[in-house]
Amino acid sequence: MLTCYEEMMAGIFDAAGVPVLLVGDSAGNNFLGEENTIPVTVDELIPLARAVVRGSSQALVVADLPFGSYEPGPEIALATGIRFMKEAKVQAVKLEGGERVVPQISTLISAGIPVMGHLGLTPQSVHALGGFKVQGRGDDGERIKRDARALQAAGVFALVLELVPASLAAEIAKELTIPVIGIGAGPECDAQVLVYTDLLGLTKNPPKFARSYLNGREMISSAVTSWIADVNSGVFPNASESFQ
Ligand code: KIV
Repeated sequence: MLTCYEEMMAGIFDAAGVPVLLVGDSAGNNFLGEENTIPVTVDELIPLARAVVRGSSQALVVADLPFGSYEPGPEIALATGIRFMKEAKVQAVKLEGGERVVPQISTLISAGIPVMGHLGLTPQSVHALGGFKVQGRGDDGERIKRDARALQAAGVFALVLELVPASLAAEIAKELTIPVIGIGAGPECDAQVLVYTDLLGLTKNPPKFARSYLNGREMISSAVTSWIADVNSGVFPNASESFQ
């Protein structure tokens, strides 16, 4: 699974064979210039999700329910889920949290909206968690296991585990029957998810768990610098790039 926030990238990732595109609220800090995911609104994420749906033909498109759009209760969660399904035409939604959000998950699933869970470091709760820290070390691992079982019992079709010890992720992946998708959760998850700006080397300060497969910032900067030089020296546009 790869995050995606726009139509063109969706087309490229989809054609490359990424099976799931996540319109994550990580759009906040990777697309909208916010400090973190907390300020992202439903009205901001829906157009991005619609663009990703338009750009992809094979991938399953999942949208994050932004902070504040599901916590107040099942009815609000359902209203938000319906907006994503109808206005963005995504095929599933993702929300953060364990036992506390089971009523929301059950209501969404009863209405026909597939739900992906998200445990471990849940960025929407970053302040309550005291920062972007590994979760589930020591005895706290039992809490995450309990939450994972509760989400599976509630009917989520897959679970993201973020920033947890690899051994804990391995145990959860082994125990659950649904796919466990890891990010900073070691190699023994059933699948992996990355933020695409990390993968392409566009993020200024990527997290330790990410690997970039392209030097995107430098490549883009060098292309733009070359264009500026060509314009300034009169080499661009040439005759074939002009009309007679
Ligand atoms: O918003 C997001 O990009 C996510 C992934 C990191 C799983 O939730």
